[in-house]
Amino acid sequence: MSFPKLKTNISIHDETFINNQKEYQHLLKTFRQRISNAQNHGSEKAKLKHLERGKLLARNRIDLLIDKGTPFMELSPMAAIDQYNNQFPSAGIITGIGKVEGRICIIVANDATVKGGTYIRETIKKHTRAQEIAKQNHLPCIYLVDSGGIFLPEQANVFPDRFDFGRVFFNQAQMSALGIPQIAVVMGSCTAGGAYVPAMSDEAIMVENQGTIFIGGPPLVKAATGEEVTAEELGGTKVHTQISGVADHAATDDADALKKCRSIIASLPPNENSYSPIEEPEFSLNELEGILSIDPKKSIDAYEVIMRMVDGSRFQEFKADYGKTLVTGFAKIMGFPVGIIANNSFLTAESAQKGAHFIQLCVQRKTPILFLQNITGFIVGKTYEHQGIARDGAKLIHAVANAAVPKITLVIGGSYGAGNYAMAGRAFDPHFLFMWPNSRISVMGGEQAQMVLETIGNEQAKRLKEQFEEESSVYYSTSRLWDDGVIEPTDTRIVLGMALDTVSQSPEAETQFGVFRM
Ligand code: COA
Repeated sequence: MSFPKLKTNISIHDETFINNQKEYQHLLKTFRQRISNAQNHGSEKAKLKHLERGKLLARNRIDLLIDKGTPFMELSPMAAIDQYNNQFPSAGIITGIGKVEGRICIIVANDATVKGGTYIRETIKKHTRAQEIAKQNHLPCIYLVDSGGIFLPEQANVFPDRFDFGRVFFNQAQMSALGIPQIAVVMGSCTAGGAYVPAMSDEAIMVENQGTIFIGGPPLVKAATGEEVTAEELGGTKVHTQISGVADHAATDDADALKKCRSIIASLPPNENSYSPIEEPEFSLNELEGILSIDPKKSIDAYEVIMRMVDGSRFQEFKADYGKTLVTGFAKIMGFPVGIIANNSFLTAESAQKGAHFIQLCVQRKTPILFLQNITGFIVGKTYEHQGIARDGAKLIHAVANAAVPKITLVIGGSYGAGNYAMAGRAFDPHFLFMWPNSRISVMGGEQAQMVLETIGNEQAKRLKEQFEEESSVYYSTSRLWDDGVIEPTDTRIVLGMALDTVSQSPEAETQFGVFRM
């Protein structure tokens, strides 16, 4: 590569660096503890019961399924955190992207140690979000099923609406029609609606003496018809692989079933891989701990972040001297070409237009775009309104919404107001959205919100600051799936590399921009 290298202005011996690093490491300690609790499955009692049945824990199943020594990019592992009395770690389902027989796949695994693997709202959001990624990028879906269906007390939040439980099966049918392989491995119960996960799949594997598929379980059958029947007789592996034909392959245990699943993936027609050699950055991602401040008011130098993220710290900048509050340019991450758009302060008319222009370049070159979001919003004041900041902002928002190249958003600091939209927030359908633990998301800062309400004489103003403080934390966001997960700065290259590998599979689409208000 011949384009220029970036140079740092940071000294790692500087006092600010050392203080920031200390504080950031403290933040990471809390984050690691919280994420590890979320990833520790259900209660010890539930885990013991699960293991005594000869079953593997959901995360160990995934480890066995994916290629040895390759990473698993888990999505939203802290979903449902601080909700439901924390009784649903990871919302009872593990979703993510991993390589199986060299091929990028979506993996969805129920965690039966969390309330029998049943579904609350966030479980469904995770399941359907994973399917959405599969559909966008044409990735085979592997469902490791072990679930009691809907968590009945929450049925009103889970059953009836457009994006509720039924959407899972709708997505399966649509993806199957698009030629996206749907593979189910039944490793526990598939009850009621859950029965349709394997039944709607292209191929289904069942584990003997563990897997069951039925529309109504034995208690319901007894109540409905008086018939007494065991689960195995009603819908066990032998029934479905030998009598009903609902499933296709019988496996002796979890490990055998996962091996059979790998063979199915190996037999799929080959696809292209756009991977090229990787050059490590000249500056370490670890140093971000000393560069980022945990104080959201402190600015983050976009260049210092980019140079630690991109291959060889090389960055071909676009319009370096114009609209400087937005940094734009081309780079590679883990060998994949990417256009980067990063905030270096609030958005101005110039920076919004520069962003829209750069997006057009990425569309022309069919290059995915990475948004590094750290934005308080658009510049405010009479001068700027008179100049038409809203018109120029709209240009950027139009370009972001309609650019038909894959978009990946990483929130590295604040994500506030219309800045969130202009920088490909969740409403703008980026293929992935991740956050760093120090980042914050809300319509505006707590102090500003309090001031706004005080100005209009609202009594709630005092409480608002605290409320905003809580609601803008990454834990609040990730619990509600406003993002695909909170990641450590150090893991950023691996996660972005996997994300770029994933989006490189998505079919090319034509971009049609709307009316740009001139
Ligand atoms: N709704 C709400 N809670 C449920 C549930 C459901 N559908 N299915 C299981 N649970 C809860 C249990 O009450 C128990 O809660 P606890 O840990 O607070 O005591 C926990 O999940 C584990 O269930 P348990 O029956 O002890 O575990 P298991 O591994 O022996 O069996 C199932 C798991 C899923 C096979 C079994 O619970 C079952 O058949 N559930 C009903 C399934 C059903 O009919 N669903 C219809 C929904 S459409």
